[in-house]
Amino acid sequence: MNQDEMKRAAAEAAIEYVDTGMIVGIGTGSTANHFIDLLAGIKGKVDATVASSEASAERLRGHGIRVLDLNEAGELSLYVDGADESNKYLHLIKGGGGALTREKIVAAASKKFVCIADESKLVDILGDFPLPVEVIPMARSYVAREILKRTGGTPVLREGFTTDNGNVILDIRDLQIMEPVKLENELNSIVGVVTNGLFAARPADVLILGTPEGAKTILP
Ligand code: 5RP
Repeated sequence: MNQDEMKRAAAEAAIEYVDTGMIVGIGTGSTANHFIDLLAGIKGKVDATVASSEASAERLRGHGIRVLDLNEAGELSLYVDGADESNKYLHLIKGGGGALTREKIVAAASKKFVCIADESKLVDILGDFPLPVEVIPMARSYVAREILKRTGGTPVLREGFTTDNGNVILDIRDLQIMEPVKLENELNSIVGVVTNGLFAARPADVLILGTPEGAKTILP
């Protein structure tokens, strides 16, 4: 089984969490895309969806699935999204696709967060994957200096990339994240930071990993 097939296996297992009449939060990325395509097969079952990016909203609409603004939807029963890294406590690094802020908002508004990934995403210590931070453009240099000072990591501007919210991304390299909740809060306290890609204060509730032997469910 290749990596893409493992992502699809995880997405297939997550479909089991979809109940009749639900409004489902939808993540962003190649694993979330598998979930969207599979959801199309049972679209009569869901009431509507809320998307965490313009790209996912477009894919959902392309399948004829209703997409609501989060403000119209209220609390969501379920959020399904991928991740760039997860530890065994289901603390995540997300934002490889740059959708971290909307992803974090939809996750926060959801009762259950089911994370889907291939098995390579499970790590002992978070930080090999550069940690994305969404920043208001005029604060870019100031925030980069503060990140260096406060974390010791190396912030690198994601060249030629603008988020759906009109902001820039600094990816922090060279981190070994021993205290994810503390780092998440510290980065969010820098003026000019919109949010960062650590999902530790609100981790996933369920992690489904695609493996060569099929989907494996991990609870924190
Ligand atoms: C996008 C994300 C994605 O969930 C993350 O990058 C994983 O992507 P993929 O499913 O393509 O491996 O956080 O902002």
